[in-house]
Amino acid sequence: MGTLSYIKNFIKDRQVASITPTSRFTIERVCRHIDFDRDIRIIEFGPADGVFTKVILDKLTAGSEIIAIETNSDFARSLRLHGDPRLSVVNRSAEDVREIASMKSWDRVDYIISGIPFSFLKKDVKRKILQESSQLLGEKGLFLGYQTSSHLRSHLRNYFPKVETEMEYLNIPPMCVYRAGK
Ligand SMILES: C[S@@+](CC[C@H](N)C(=O)[O-])C[C@H]1O[C@@H](n2cnc3c(N)ncnc32)[C@H](O)[C@@H]1O
Repeated sequence: MGTLSYIKNFIKDRQVASITPTSRFTIERVCRHIDFDRDIRIIEFGPADGVFTKVILDKLTAGSEIIAIETNSDFARSLRLHGDPRLSVVNRSAEDVREIASMKSWDRVDYIISGIPFSFLKKDVKRKILQESSQLLGEKGLFLGYQTSSHLRSHLRNYFPKVETEMEYLNIPPMCVYRAGK
């Protein structure tokens, strides 16, 4: 897995949008905003083969849970092999996030982590994903996104009053990390 699996899937599926996994430095920068000391519910958009998911699982308490939503069926299949009971993998689009959360009777989540390529998505798909994410996160939740462009900032501002951006240069290419909340 890793870069080779990204290249293979990128050739078949342009929504993969990257030929290299996110760096450890970016993952740690995003994780700084997560309270791993308590039981939490996380939804991850676009986990690919789980470079981020596996780090999160290592940090999560036994009572925490994560739903990983991935459109690419090869990636979803490979991530299921991880077999951690706290992880549910759903081979669908993030635009169905509320319906997917309701299948687990989740009406609130603590964090949404997103690596999906928002600049590739149609306007109405982008809108649905951010609107449903904002509803699911409630007043206290955080949307944590990472993207190679600054594209996401203005879209996040339509749904979250507080949006902050940081850069992580130890990533190929450099990554914008977004933190959005209410
Ligand atoms: C740039 S890769 C990020 C992969 C990984 N999280 C990482 O950090 O290296 C984007 C991933 O989002 C997935 N994806 C794209 N559009 C999606 C959507 N609408 N819903 C869920 N996953 C999506 C792609 O298949 C791909 O695995």
